Amino acid sequence: MKLIILVSALLAYCHGEPSPTIIPIEGGVQGDGVTTRYWDCCATSCAWDKIIHTKNGQPVQTCQKDGRTPSTKENNSQSGCEVDGVAYSCSNQVARVINSTLAYGFSAASFTGGVDTAQCCMCVLLSFKGQLAGKQLLVQVTNTGSDLGKNQFDLAMPGGGVGIFTLGCSSQWGAPETGWGDRYGGVHTEEECNQLPEDLQEGCKFRFRFMEGVPNPDVSFQQVQCPSELVALTGCGDLD
Ligand SMILES: *[C@@H]1O[C@H](CO)[C@@H](O)[C@H](O)[C@H]1NC(C)=O
Ligand SMILES: *[C@@H]1O[C@H](CO)[C@@H](O)[C@H](O)[C@H]1NC(C)=O
Repeated sequence: MKLIILVSALLAYCHGEPSPTIIPIEGGVQGDGVTTRYWDCCATSCAWDKIIHTKNGQPVQTCQKDGRTPSTKENNSQSGCEVDGVAYSCSNQVARVINSTLAYGFSAASFTGGVDTAQCCMCVLLSFKGQLAGKQLLVQVTNTGSDLGKNQFDLAMPGGGVGIFTLGCSSQWGAPETGWGDRYGGVHTEEECNQLPEDLQEGCKFRFRFMEGVPNPDVSFQQVQCPSELVALTGCGDLD
């Protein structure tokens, strides 16, 4: 048994898969949850500086219409999903693969059911169940939603469906009024991800590659410290 562990550790080492340290937060949120997916292009709710209770006091960074240029402090939360809004989701706040069983990403979440801004910017390690068992997605909570249930993670994945807000992707990218693919659920195949703007295509394909196209897998979850890679993308850190 020890030998098997040693050999598999050695193999992992030889394959050079990165294995970052993940630090659970004692007394943090944990339990079983469900996932859905979305990408509505809007400024996320955690961009509202009024509601941020994080150590560094910063809201989630949003972007101007190009999805790349950071919004200014004055209009960081002025959502492009509202008439006259100018702030959109930054195209780099999408999931990325860390190793063959771990990815980092972003999610809307609710732990109470409904809008739940108290948890903005915390990080949660999601361990998939069922077909994706053995894979994990560590997400930073960047958004919430009136349509979310208790312990629901609405994963931020371009081409995942615009959901209740239809104005964002059409005004930012000229997407169809109900978004790319279905309004709820988005595109159906990896090829359809090529309809999206180039900056969003990799984030769309993540669903078909790392997540193997498995729709809305159940998870168990545990709050963890936010990795610096995610904080670098949002500017927003762990809770107080
Ligand atoms: C990926 O990283 C996680 C966290 O360090 C680790 O638990 C897991 O074993 C790694 N996966 C592989 C295939 O090396
Ligand atoms: C954001 O606000 C600043 C300051 O009020 C303004 O000058 C700028 O034009 C606004 N940006 C956009 C994209 O509207």
